[in-house]
Amino acid sequence: SESNYQEPHRPQYHFSPKANWMNDPNGMVYFDGEYHLFYQYYPDSTVWGPMHWGHAISTDLVHWEQLPVALEPDELGWIFSGSAVLDAENTSGLGTKDNPPLVAIYTYHDPVGADAGRDDFQTQGIAFSLDKGRTWEKYKGNPVLDNPGIQDFRDPKVSKMQVSGQDKWIMSLAVKDKISFYSSDDLLQWEYESDFNPPWAAYGGVWECPDLFPLTTPDGQEKWVLLVSINPGGPNGGSATQYVIGDFDGQTFSTDQNEIQWLDYGADNYAGVTWSNIPTSDGRKLFIGWMSNWLYANVVPTDVWRSATTLPRELSLWGKSPEWHLASRPVKELQKLRKSSHDISGDTISLEEELVELELSPVEEDFRLVFHNSEGEQVILAKEDDTLLLDRTQSGLVDFNERFPARHQAPLGELTVQNLRIYLDRSSIEVFINDGELVMTDLLFPEHRYTQVELKGFADENRLHYLQSIW
Ligand code: FRU
Repeated sequence: SESNYQEPHRPQYHFSPKANWMNDPNGMVYFDGEYHLFYQYYPDSTVWGPMHWGHAISTDLVHWEQLPVALEPDELGWIFSGSAVLDAENTSGLGTKDNPPLVAIYTYHDPVGADAGRDDFQTQGIAFSLDKGRTWEKYKGNPVLDNPGIQDFRDPKVSKMQVSGQDKWIMSLAVKDKISFYSSDDLLQWEYESDFNPPWAAYGGVWECPDLFPLTTPDGQEKWVLLVSINPGGPNGGSATQYVIGDFDGQTFSTDQNEIQWLDYGADNYAGVTWSNIPTSDGRKLFIGWMSNWLYANVVPTDVWRSATTLPRELSLWGKSPEWHLASRPVKELQKLRKSSHDISGDTISLEEELVELELSPVEEDFRLVFHNSEGEQVILAKEDDTLLLDRTQSGLVDFNERFPARHQAPLGELTVQNLRIYLDRSSIEVFINDGELVMTDLLFPEHRYTQVELKGFADENRLHYLQSIW
């Protein structure tokens, strides 16, 4: 099925598959000049079903080339979410020192076992590629990690770290409502290390898609970040991603944090994780999420395909010791999309085009911004006291699910809004406060493009960029 990427609501500068169903991003790894993006994919329908790994690559995180499906279901089950690493030292023996393997570590979901009422239907398997991710072979000894009798046992995120001077592979795994850590020398044999499930965390749903990685604080300490997606139980309903900042010693994760923190207060950033093997000369922690929510993902009003990714984001820490927070800002490569840039002032701005990036500075305590059109469709972003509000109740098509038309709220706490960056694509809005200290990502399905933006409480000089399509 060929797509021209011109269907109604088709994202113009976000990744979406040509056709059919997508959910979580999987196996993101950088190798030999290419950013790989795999994703949960069902090639036979626009609703969720037997999972495969779809595949796309990019050299700049902005433009994507779609490749054939990388992993298909086999007799052990469907291919659920997971990660990929470069096994540079060939510890697995699946490649050679000269041609080290890319290794994908994913969950097998056995639908037969699940239907039969067994508890052990999710296990972990691996596959490897010796040709830059173009073709994949499943490991003969799968599964590499068997199920101890727990229904939810999935989404392995593997990374390499030094433990007492030795390289170790560490796997973070979502196990019902906790994260379990496993370690390995060779990616083939895994040893249980510990669990993490502090009493104060969010437990409104099942834990999914963890990620564990170090970042440096503004004052130069190394801290470990644990991402944990949860569904349902998010701050604005349904799916969302919480995070914990602490320390990891190769065996256990510990933290002084005792309150929930959320990566994104919009409704539509789920199951996001980071790229592995980014060169140290770059040094960024690069993240991408699934821009949807299990509340309505299967019924959003698109034909041909369903779902897109969020914009790629760079993660960093902000705050003051001992209270650290995670910022996610759009990657700098996105500036390439700017086709023309304009200084704007005044209360009413006409939008000549559909794909828009806005840079704004508030000057008043409270502010308000409304994108709208003459058909009465509108989306409102407002700061009222210490709450940021994103209202999509009248944004366009909303009644395909009762939970979609909603006013999403984010608590600003002590945060002073210095600047906003807003990306509007055909069917999404992404709001970044202070370079990502607070983020809201929401889907929108306007039937007509928004032609004006009303501004209240902002400086006289703001910036508007029209963006180009990547397709
Ligand atoms: C998260 C998730 C994962 C699972 C995958 C199945 O959205 O439920 O836990 O591996 O989707 O498609």
